[in-house]
Amino acid sequence: MAITGYGVVSRRAGEPTQLEEIVIEPPGPGEVLVRIQASGVCHTDLHYKLGKIDDKFPYLLGHEGAGIVETVGEGVTAPAVGDYVVLAWRAPCGQCRFCTIGQPHLCSASLNAEPRMFTKKDGVTLSPAIGIGTFCTHTVVAAKQAVPIPTACPPEQACLIGCGVITGVGACLYTAGVRKGSSVAVFGCGGIGSSVIMGAKLARAGKIIGVDIAENKLTWAKEFGATDVVNAAQVDPVEAIKKLTDGNGVDYAFEAVGTPQTLLQALWSRDLAGICTLIGVPDPTMTMELPMLQFFGLGGALRVSWYGDCLPSRDFPLLSNWYLSGELDLDRMVTRVIKLEDTEGAFEAMERGETLRSVIRLPEG
Ligand SMILES: NC(=O)c1ccc[n+]([C@@H]2O[C@H](COP(=O)([O-])OP(=O)(O)OC[C@H]3O[C@@H](n4cnc5c(N)ncnc54)[C@H](O)[C@@H]3O)[C@@H](O)[C@H]2O)c1
Ligand SMILES: [Zn+2]
Ligand SMILES: [Zn+2]
Repeated sequence: MAITGYGVVSRRAGEPTQLEEIVIEPPGPGEVLVRIQASGVCHTDLHYKLGKIDDKFPYLLGHEGAGIVETVGEGVTAPAVGDYVVLAWRAPCGQCRFCTIGQPHLCSASLNAEPRMFTKKDGVTLSPAIGIGTFCTHTVVAAKQAVPIPTACPPEQACLIGCGVITGVGACLYTAGVRKGSSVAVFGCGGIGSSVIMGAKLARAGKIIGVDIAENKLTWAKEFGATDVVNAAQVDPVEAIKKLTDGNGVDYAFEAVGTPQTLLQALWSRDLAGICTLIGVPDPTMTMELPMLQFFGLGGALRVSWYGDCLPSRDFPLLSNWYLSGELDLDRMVTRVIKLEDTEGAFEAMERGETLRSVIRLPEG
């Protein structure tokens, strides 16, 4: 039987979101219904709200969630009812041309549930953000999107693993493959950039340079493990990075903002053969002009990282355990804990640059 709950709905591009009553259908075959306990507010949700990703309004926002499996659909063997899970916005299908050659992180047919959430007011089908929808009391996802993790990892911290943390840490460990002792620059020290810094520290990078235009982000970047910081609002970050690296540039540059300007800066801040990784999501209007000879002359690579090239089933429990052993500082990423009805305020705080992550905590029971 369908249940009713609440969700944060974005009805039109750029307009404030509304907390609405929503109807949630039972999970279909291969799907599970999850009661959400906590959800982080990621910049990608703001992109959705502003109409910068797609125009499949109305959206049920949120894609960084942790919760409890309440019901399982036909044929589901795992997870089980009662399991504590973090939700994944990519879940390899196991059958596509990438999965079958052993590259499931590149899956071209990542699993999602059928649309099962509707507005109560007018019965419109909701598009869940990146196929999940977590700013709500309950959501329906494909069973493989719900990844069990140790219960000792609290929901406020665990939910962040579901997007921001795995994206940043994975970009370091998997997409770029940061080498021990190497130098790293991170453009944009928000939720994603901070996680890149944590990943670089886990990879034992020698120098980690945080770049941002906001002082508070740079202060936090140092707390996460940046050895140096550069305020790009005050100095040319490429020059500053060269100065910090004996004139050479860094071995690894990460772009975690999503603009042509910062991508170019990341590209030019590299040493010879350096690897630049684009994580920030551009909007559809953005283009980039590149002097090809300069690009060729530096060698190296420009990579794009989706979801940190992670495998949720392998990495969510791993990162939870790193949090529990003190190697991953997820407490520092939770800037504020808020209620579902305060989500619009969290977007405003994000736009003002006040937060790494606002985390929505749903009441228990
Ligand atoms: N590739 C993926 O799989 C993936 C996953 C999640 C998020 N993202 C994207 O990553 C980006 C960052 O997300 P977030 O949640 O960390 O956002 P955020 O708002 O928390 O952080 C963005 C940071 O960039 C800084 N910034 C803005 N302009 C800058 C400039 N010119 N130079 C240096 N820093 C600048 C801001 O001050 C802020 O600290 C977004 O575009 C988001 O959509 C990508
Ligand atoms: Zn996200
Ligand atoms: Zn696949």
